[in-house]
Amino acid sequence: MKKLKNDTLLRALLRQPTEYTPVWLMRQAGRYLSEYNQTRARAGNFLALCKNPNFATEVTMQPLARFPLDAAILFSDILTIPDAMGLGLYFAEGEGPKFERPLREEREIYALSVPDPAVHLRYVIDAVSQIRGALNNQIPLIGFSGSPFTLACYMVEGCGGTDFRQIKTMLYQRPELLHHILNINAQAVIAYLNAQIESGAQAVMIFDTWGGALSHAAYREFSLHYINQIVAGLKREHNGQRIPSIIFTKGGGLWLEAIAESGCDAVGLDWTTDIAEARRRIGHKVSLQGNLDPAVLFAAPEIITTEVEKILTGYGHGHGHVFNLGHGISQFTPPESALVLVEAVHTLSRKYHQ
Ligand code: CP3
Repeated sequence: MKKLKNDTLLRALLRQPTEYTPVWLMRQAGRYLSEYNQTRARAGNFLALCKNPNFATEVTMQPLARFPLDAAILFSDILTIPDAMGLGLYFAEGEGPKFERPLREEREIYALSVPDPAVHLRYVIDAVSQIRGALNNQIPLIGFSGSPFTLACYMVEGCGGTDFRQIKTMLYQRPELLHHILNINAQAVIAYLNAQIESGAQAVMIFDTWGGALSHAAYREFSLHYINQIVAGLKREHNGQRIPSIIFTKGGGLWLEAIAESGCDAVGLDWTTDIAEARRRIGHKVSLQGNLDPAVLFAAPEIITTEVEKILTGYGHGHGHVFNLGHGISQFTPPESALVLVEAVHTLSRKYHQ
């Protein structure tokens, strides 16, 4: 195995010493980059972009040509799993994801089965190995999946941007139905992430975008319980290399201790959490990833730099921090602002690692 040229991200995720704080950005390949929009137009639409490994590789590489990022993230979507289950994913222009056949009927729910990633998600697995080839061991590749609960939100609601009425009705009225879906989703995510690891993903992240919409008790029962199962089922090593895992529950700031107990290596923080406090609470156990408010990137360069410094100071001296935004980068972000951010992290963080 050829050695990774820059493994700063992997060391930081494992709380090992690094010379500076590594940085990558959630949704770093996306609509704020004109070259992304051009490739998407050539592909026809977003889903066609995801389903073609050549296009997926091309857009994964685009942000790396502009910014000195410390990681690449697989270009795909969390909704590939329910699509592979036959729910009929589509993206109406400017409207976000939708399913042709959302899950409502008991009969349909009990008919769900775990897709075989080598068959139904072959295009993702192929994209992972093709991206690894294109990266040529310069920086690591992060694979990802949605959490069972976040996937279930889209599967049951049939689209995003809802008040969670359908899924919460099911949660309270027919919890056994939701548990059935979550069980299948957890098995699907384990198989999917392990297939990504086997084809070359060097770290994995679980996006629990909607876990924060749950009550304190329901979060544990309907989201974290299944995330724990996934972490326990993940391959921890591949080709002699540890594969770190990151759990990101948006809105999960009140539950950090419980999340850190999942056995994951790192916990992602959204921008509502104070990173200094998060480190006091769980920093002895896991690395922290985050957590600049993505809206900071609409401000002037000096302000971006100041806000970066605040997060670095908040985390303080020592290792175990991966700089990121607290959620995905906005499509309205000027790309120059992302460059200011990445360079500021690299320059300003060195003093915290001496
Ligand atoms: O970070 C990266 O660069 C990797 C790519 C990535 C995408 N989606 C590409 C994408 C990742 C990691 C995701 C995860 C994802 N997808 C999540 C979890 C993270 C989060 O943002 O909370 C969720 C909830 C989804 C589902 C999804 N996909 C939504 C709600 C949308 C529409 C939102 C929007 O910004 O319009 C998508 C579409 C999507 N996924 C886009 C991209 C670049 C934009 C689609 C386009 O090009 O038109």
